[in-house]
Amino acid sequence: MKFESQSVAKPYFIFALILFAVQIVFGLLMGTQYIFGDFLTEWIPFNVARMVHTNALILWLLFGFMGASYYMVPEESDTELYSPLLAKVLFWVFAVASLATAASYLLVPYAKLAELTFNELLPTMGREFLEQPTITKIGIVIVCLGFIFNLGMTILKGRKTVINLVLITGLIGLAVFFLFSFYNPDNLALDKYFWWFVVHLWVEGVWELILGAILAFTLIKVTGVDREIIEKWLYVIIAMALISGLIGMGHHYFWIGPGEYWLWLGSIFSALEPIPFFMMVLFAFKMVKQRRVEHGNQIALTWALGTAVMSFLGAGVWGFLHTLAPVNYFTHGTQITAAHGHLAFFGAYAMIVLTIISYAMPIMRGRPQGNPPAAQRLERFSFWAMCISMLGITIALTIAGAWSIALQRLPDDANALSFMATQDAIVSMFWVRLVFGVTFLVGLVAYFASFFVGYAEEKVSKPVTA
Ligand code: HEM
Ligand code: HEM
Ligand SMILES: [Fe+2]
Repeated sequence: MKFESQSVAKPYFIFALILFAVQIVFGLLMGTQYIFGDFLTEWIPFNVARMVHTNALILWLLFGFMGASYYMVPEESDTELYSPLLAKVLFWVFAVASLATAASYLLVPYAKLAELTFNELLPTMGREFLEQPTITKIGIVIVCLGFIFNLGMTILKGRKTVINLVLITGLIGLAVFFLFSFYNPDNLALDKYFWWFVVHLWVEGVWELILGAILAFTLIKVTGVDREIIEKWLYVIIAMALISGLIGMGHHYFWIGPGEYWLWLGSIFSALEPIPFFMMVLFAFKMVKQRRVEHGNQIALTWALGTAVMSFLGAGVWGFLHTLAPVNYFTHGTQITAAHGHLAFFGAYAMIVLTIISYAMPIMRGRPQGNPPAAQRLERFSFWAMCISMLGITIALTIAGAWSIALQRLPDDANALSFMATQDAIVSMFWVRLVFGVTFLVGLVAYFASFFVGYAEEKVSKPVTA
């Protein structure tokens, strides 16, 4: 580690991984409930499990981004973090608030939770991804402010690099767009309109900046390629992301009430959104080809390349699949949406967090050249198990979605199946999803295990010095 204060990233990474595991357990629970409708529903109804699954996802990604930033910014700025203490305090505030929120979802009926947390004073609850009680949302804002202040001060006193600039712009954007979660008009069309400002301008806008910055940082470290070359790529990628993504948001405005011109704007601009993702693939592979060092941490490089490829598949290919209005007319809200949501979230944001953890954790644990071979082998197995499983889940859901359109939406009224009859007809695909869900869990367990492998041989071969 170049700077002592980078180590504040460690608890953020560890907590992110714990929430990742929670997310997957609840995903599997829902996957089972999709097949056996009443499985454990007395204790954990589907809607509650869904809330825990998606909220745990968002939270662990935020913890991951924060950890990544605390690790990267001091090194990029070439100076210690402005206040390690603030970073540590905010970690505990955020971790306790996250656990309390997750526990309250499971223990208290949602309406009661809204009442207990004075939702009526400033109603923000009850919308997908933004289910958190208002008080938790305020907590998130405070944590984000403190976090950005800390990083901003570090950047101001140190070296200014393109990676830092892109990263902090993405993080500020993340915080600013989250503020739209406090706007909750009664009119449902208006509500949905601004809801997408958080959800879409995050994943298809500012989060892409964060993704690009972390990817660029990792690639510089493990390939040794000149910063100048990587920075040029980064500029073009983020410009393309913002140009396409901001108006591309119109692909969510096709059927919710706003003007018809969104059919055109949304289709055309969002059709350009795969470009920055494709550029990231070119970028990553080119850098590896031009590499000037053979870094000992090969698995971190695998994660970086994997992120580029899987995010292109999930966001680029599976996004494009249903983004044109005439196609979306049929696919809207089917399992095709879920297929895309899974592969895009995993391929882009879950994997970039796993990438930086894979690079930074060994260094913070005193192994600058990466984990011992046995640990890297196990991590490589978990990489493939999780990636292949997620592709399996995606394909199963894509077939389920297309099949449901054929049964429910294409036939005329007399022949179309009802929603529930359709769900029964396509249940085989939910079985396939569940099987791949289990293999995903196997990959995740292997991933956790890789943190504990190889210690013994290492101690024998080279005693660890403090
Ligand atoms: C990493 C980036 C991305 C992530 C994480 C992501 C994630 C998601 C998620 C979770 C949804 C479902 C939202 C809901 O609850 O209704 C969704 C919807 C959608 N996404 Fe993406 N997405 C990404 C990029 C893209 C791109 C690049 C495109 C287009 C090329 C795209 C096209 C769409 C469309 C058209 C929908 C609406 C589906 C419907 O009508 O039901 N997405 N996305
Ligand atoms: C064991 C693996 C997993 C299983 C079995 C699983 C299952 C599910 C199920 C059943 C839903 C609810 C769909 C519905 O409302 O009809 C869901 C939603 C969701 N899951 Fe997963 N999940 C898994 C892993 C993941 C991972 C790794 C990610 C991302 C990194 C993820 C992201 C999401 C998202 C974004 C949604 C909301 C999708 C939407 O609104 O379209 N899941 N998941
Ligand atoms: Fe979108």
